[in-house]
Amino acid sequence: MEARKTLLTTDNRLPVPESDAAAHSELLTERIRAAIAASSGQWIDFERYMEMALYEPGLGYYAAGAAKLGQAGDFVTAPELTPLFGRFIARQIQPVLAGLNHPKILELGPGSGALADALLRELGNLGQALDGYWLLEPSPDLAERQTRRLVAWGAQTTWLDRPPATPFEGVILANEVVDALPVSRFQVVGERLVPFGVGWADGLTWRRHDGATASIAREQLPPLKDGHTGEWCPRLEAWFAAVTAQLRRGAVIGIDYGLPATSYYHGDHPDGRLVCHYRHRRHNDPFWWPGLSDMSAWVDFSALARAGRRAGLQLAGFTTQGQWLAEGGLAALLEGASPADLAAAKTLLLPGEMGEAFKVMAFSRGLQFELPGRDLRDRL
Ligand SMILES: C[S@@+](CC[C@H](N)C(=O)[O-])C[C@H]1O[C@@H](n2cnc3c(N)ncnc32)[C@H](O)[C@@H]1O
Repeated sequence: MEARKTLLTTDNRLPVPESDAAAHSELLTERIRAAIAASSGQWIDFERYMEMALYEPGLGYYAAGAAKLGQAGDFVTAPELTPLFGRFIARQIQPVLAGLNHPKILELGPGSGALADALLRELGNLGQALDGYWLLEPSPDLAERQTRRLVAWGAQTTWLDRPPATPFEGVILANEVVDALPVSRFQVVGERLVPFGVGWADGLTWRRHDGATASIAREQLPPLKDGHTGEWCPRLEAWFAAVTAQLRRGAVIGIDYGLPATSYYHGDHPDGRLVCHYRHRRHNDPFWWPGLSDMSAWVDFSALARAGRRAGLQLAGFTTQGQWLAEGGLAALLEGASPADLAAAKTLLLPGEMGEAFKVMAFSRGLQFELPGRDLRDRL
């Protein structure tokens, strides 16, 4: 086993947390340290670390009271930027909903509730009835925030704390949710892929578990150089199968920053693809004040496509967010838009902003569904 200090550099312009936030983070750090001490080998998998940093009850980033999304928080997502995003999605899925029996929408990880709000409003304007809008949110804090935001939608909205248990027809949406699923890390050591986890040496530190083999299949990866460190999401398939299990007929749309596997594991990213956000600054040190930064990993869309196939879904499309919005008719929504919405639309569309890094992947079950935009499925 080999220990080394933080592999990735910290952005030293990060603001210093206030004392109560720092104390909160120290409590979480102690909890993580105890988990490391209790483990055989003084080592925990990075997946366990990320799970604690994000979801440890009462302490993790998503499980405690920090603002998280929006201007007062750490990062901004497309639905937070402008309601145009939700209105666009409403128009994309309305024809699907119209052909279903008692259609429902299941939104995974709804954040502040901004997407639900914009979608429900636009579907109402389009005269599309819904049998219900389900919000699956594991964070009690965010679920409460959503409840406040969506109070006007009354009985249409239902919160779930686990995947639905009853069959339904409808559309499942996930914007920036897959990136929040805890990932494991590996390092290439000769012919082997070795787990690259977390230990303690005067603080949290990277620790390679040389005696073990990472459970990612080598054939899922392009050739990689010695020392390359990368992430994969061991729970992706089980999670995706669970959230889509009760969908009898309909579509699933996932939007996130990510790449097909060959680009994802490219040698130009030898330290992997973790991304942390604190107060609208991006950094890549997951050990910087645990619980105060959002932590995520870019999505391997080849793995997501595989998860969909294994869940019995049809891969209906894969394109960039920019292509999807441009070819899907975002322009029609821009007439009379406010300057702020026009600026936000540019951010969503432009390749140097969110247009290229963000991808859209769609699946279908029991119906035909197509995604506008250049078809990139052959890259997967
Ligand atoms: C980066 S935020 C995105 C929020 C929102 N979708 C948006 O675009 O503004 C990630 C969201 O996923 C939720 N989440 C995390 N793990 C989840 C899981 N296993 N199932 C469903 N939602 C999850 C988080 O609590 C949070 O609401």
